[in-house]
Amino acid sequence: MEQEKTDQLEQSAIKEAEQAEDSRALYEVKMRFLGRMGSVIQLMKKMRDLPPEERPEFGKKVNALRERLERAFERIELALKMRELAERLKTENVDVTMPGRKRASGALHPVTVVKNQLVDIFAGMGFEIYEGPEIESEYYNFTALNTPADHPARDMQDTFYLNDSFLLRTQTSAGQIRVMENKKPPIKVLSPGRVFRSDDDATHSPMFHQMEGLVVDKGVTLCDLRGMLDEFARTMFSETSKTRLRPSYFPFTEPSVEVDVSCAACGGDGCALCKGTGWIEVLGAGMVHANVLKNCGVDPEEYSGFAFGMGVERIAMLKYGINNIKLLTENDVRFLEQFRG
Ligand code: DAH
Repeated sequence: MEQEKTDQLEQSAIKEAEQAEDSRALYEVKMRFLGRMGSVIQLMKKMRDLPPEERPEFGKKVNALRERLERAFERIELALKMRELAERLKTENVDVTMPGRKRASGALHPVTVVKNQLVDIFAGMGFEIYEGPEIESEYYNFTALNTPADHPARDMQDTFYLNDSFLLRTQTSAGQIRVMENKKPPIKVLSPGRVFRSDDDATHSPMFHQMEGLVVDKGVTLCDLRGMLDEFARTMFSETSKTRLRPSYFPFTEPSVEVDVSCAACGGDGCALCKGTGWIEVLGAGMVHANVLKNCGVDPEEYSGFAFGMGVERIAMLKYGINNIKLLTENDVRFLEQFRG
């Protein structure tokens, strides 16, 4: 009778386990038979009702039953897991030959790259950075820079006037005045920033970036400017780059020079980039005009200084061989992607 009962229990446990649809259902069956309140424990409790001499025999039997059931559950569970895994692999199958999904990542704009490089070069020579305002008064942009009221640079065609006395700065040179008004020499400042001019063709854009340099101290000469520019050209363009100063005119410098760098594309032999001359104009510079020093309360008898200003877009165009400045503002990803560092 007892034997029949245990056999029955064993059979129905295995049957139910085999019918379980998933591991969760199987677990429930297992708990029902082998859990703390399960049938096997219930069976074990019956031991109390038996005469003492039958108890050890009964206990052994129930334990053997439990072990058999445990093994059976393990086997069934393993088979079930394998089945579940096979099904998952079928539905979630991965095509390893499929091309990966590209994740678009940004990169610095070539103008930013060049601007950062310029800042690095000059910061390495001990220049401090000063960024002036983009909206300037006529005084800072022109008057204090020794630019007389009838100078062509003041023409409405070049300058975006906001009203009678305020304008969008046309040059970072305006920063020279602000720096000298606020700091006594020695001064060694680099002033990067956006400037604006009513000008628009393949090499001019109404908004572009400039980088202004100003050095004022006792005994500063044009030779200091030259040496510093040579260093700049070597770092920015090529180890063999040379500079050339040509006489020029700017209202705020005297003497004024235009600075050419030997063409990095042809090494100075002459090519399409340098239009056969071997030289490329990169910036304007000069010794700070005595009037400009005076306008800022700096005594020209005691101090002298040089200044230079360059177009960041122009340097970027030369460095990367870009032939149209518009490419730098259109932000066509096919263009920008080529400058990924
Ligand atoms: N501000 C001039 C320009 O925009 C460039 C320039 C020339 C800056 C000579 C200077 C300088 O500091 O000394 O064309």
